[in-house]
Amino acid sequence: MMMVNVSLLIFLIVFIVHSQQFVFKHHNNEELYEILYHTTEDCPNITRLYTLSEKSLLGVPLYVIEFSSKPGHHQLRK
Ligand SMILES: *[C@@H]1O[C@H](CO)[C@@H](O)[C@H](O)[C@H]1NC(C)=O
Repeated sequence: MMMVNVSLLIFLIVFIVHSQQFVFKHHNNEELYEILYHTTEDCPNITRLYTLSEKSLLGVPLYVIEFSSKPGHHQLRK
């Protein structure tokens, strides 16, 4: 059980270090948008990035990233 957790942890660390030198820190709104945008650039056929029609109380755009095999199309659950 412990071995599985360690393997998973190592995999996650390697994956995170490999993917765009992601740094665990507080991200501001611009950095968050850039990360979401780069994710859609890296995986354009399974992601869609859009903003909600309403902004936050502070006037900040609210971004949504959708992960789907058919982004932009509503699919009923089976
Ligand atoms: C998305 O693109 C990747 C790489 O081209 C491909 O392997 C994958 O099957 C595609 N996924 C879908 C849902 O089209």
